[in-house]
Amino acid sequence: MHILGIDVGASGIKGAVVDVANGKLSGERFRVPTPQPSTPQAMAGAFAEIVEYFNYKGPIGCGFPSIVKNGVAKSASNIDKSWIDTDIQQVFGKASGCPVFATNDADAAGVAEMHHGLGVGENGLVLLITIGTGLGSALFYKGQLIPNTELGHVLWKHGKPAEAWCSSGARSKLKISRSEWADRFNEYLNHLELLFSPDLFILGGGESKFFEQYKHQLKTNARVVPAKLLNNAGIIGAASYASDKAQSGK
Ligand code: BGC
Repeated sequence: MHILGIDVGASGIKGAVVDVANGKLSGERFRVPTPQPSTPQAMAGAFAEIVEYFNYKGPIGCGFPSIVKNGVAKSASNIDKSWIDTDIQQVFGKASGCPVFATNDADAAGVAEMHHGLGVGENGLVLLITIGTGLGSALFYKGQLIPNTELGHVLWKHGKPAEAWCSSGARSKLKISRSEWADRFNEYLNHLELLFSPDLFILGGGESKFFEQYKHQLKTNARVVPAKLLNNAGIIGAASYASDKAQSGK
């Protein structure tokens, strides 16, 4: 089954058709910049542009950068605040003319990585952290997702969420080097380790591409690996989510 997965981010919206049986992209990716301000109306236009590009009809999976409950956005850290309590599925469904199934972006990436990436066969506690404009998290125990964990929002020592201190977005905004960022990120991982004692950390999002440059600075008891699906995990996981939902009819 081939399903369009769309990963909505604070800086870019990326889509690709995914063969959900093997978790591989069936073709190229298409990306549009996230409109600013990122209001529901403006983002709906960008979402529709991606669907039109692929000339696609059918269920669409959407990874969205907020808490998502029953398809409704329940937070908005790096997107326009007017998203709070907005029905993502309705807004994007209307714009695209297709049924849309929305889930948290990091949860989507995590599910993809557990099914088709480095999480395969991992039966303990796995914590995937996506490093992008914000920090996203997906927590698994024995392969089961505990959704909407939002660990980028643990209150950090400066009184703000951790993502304001050690996301990729924070690195650019605060103009710190990757090495300084990696020390910060190491401290953050150590804090998560204290709280959750994971067996494995998987790092996703844009920053995971540079893992080789900073891996020596990450010192945790748990293994730390970059996501095998790298930045495509969100697209693949969103497509799988839609496939499951469309088939179960729920
Ligand atoms: C949001 C999360 C999201 C993460 C990555 C955070 O700011 O609160 O819901 O998963 O960014 O996009």
